[in-house]
Amino acid sequence: MFKSKGELIDITQRIESEQMGVGTGFGKSILFGEHFVVYGLPALAVGIDAQTIAEVTTNESMGWTLDDQRPAMPGYKEKKLDEQKTSIENVMKYCGIDSSNKGIHIKLEGDLVCASGIGASAASCVALARALNEEFNLGLDDENINEAAYEGEKGYHGTPSGLDNTLSTYGGLVWYVRNLDGGASTFDRVSLKGSVHLVIASTGLTASTIEVVGDVRSKKEKDPEWFEKIAKEYEILVKDGLDAFRALNLEKAGIMMDRNHQLLQQLTVSCKELDDLVKIAKDNGALGAKMTGTGRGGNMVALVSDEQSANKISEALEKDGAAGVWITRFGL
Ligand code: MEV
Repeated sequence: MFKSKGELIDITQRIESEQMGVGTGFGKSILFGEHFVVYGLPALAVGIDAQTIAEVTTNESMGWTLDDQRPAMPGYKEKKLDEQKTSIENVMKYCGIDSSNKGIHIKLEGDLVCASGIGASAASCVALARALNEEFNLGLDDENINEAAYEGEKGYHGTPSGLDNTLSTYGGLVWYVRNLDGGASTFDRVSLKGSVHLVIASTGLTASTIEVVGDVRSKKEKDPEWFEKIAKEYEILVKDGLDAFRALNLEKAGIMMDRNHQLLQQLTVSCKELDDLVKIAKDNGALGAKMTGTGRGGNMVALVSDEQSANKISEALEKDGAAGVWITRFGL
């Protein structure tokens, strides 16, 4: 059992080293809109201060090697390994790096604990793109890093909405709308005049984003009316949710998050373990709670009123079987 309160990592020393390229990427939590965002509906999500760090060094052998030291939920790395390989190849390809004539060693670490729903795949893609950028002096800006990470995310998601890599690149609270015509998606930073506390808890179960997104897609194709009805309600809800966060009306934001969870249940992407974590959080005073990310495992996020409440809820979650619990904060 662990608990991270999101201390920032001091990577200054490593960044100053000339023998390696170093880069970082944030984890994330989706407050509204997983799955709906794939179909062009808006999402509201926040970068969390836990990060993945990538270090890249070159050597005289050929091909690339990986030393993955990231902390992770049991089974996460094994389940994601094949997708991770494709993802690394995709990021290197975007960056124009050919490891067939120069050996590349990648080391991943950091305080972001890899679990479904926390943006671990996107964080590692962003960190790797930044490390390659530094090691090979590629001159990439954040927009390019985000694009490189989007290519990497294709290894994990198949057809990513781009939400996760955007959060991992820029952090902060972001309103994101995917462009379904293939052009650039839009995202706006949302600033708040107060601070908001979240408790994130893991079921310990690793989900495959490709499979779950693919399953929702086939259900939607079989029964478009079923999906439309849920999506229509979601579209109104997410706008109310954004207004509630902007007004710091956390009671209302919480109600919207609860309802978003019910809509995700209707999409069949929640599961008993997630519903149990939602119930524990709500029974212990959360203003709102929902699954976050892919679902069918992965994480739950709870909106809480203050630090004291966050501590109480996180203790209850730890006691009642969450595989990991994090307290994080955003806004002022
Ligand atoms: C996964 O973190 C979020 C999903 O909406 C997939 C995506 O946005 O690409 C399930």
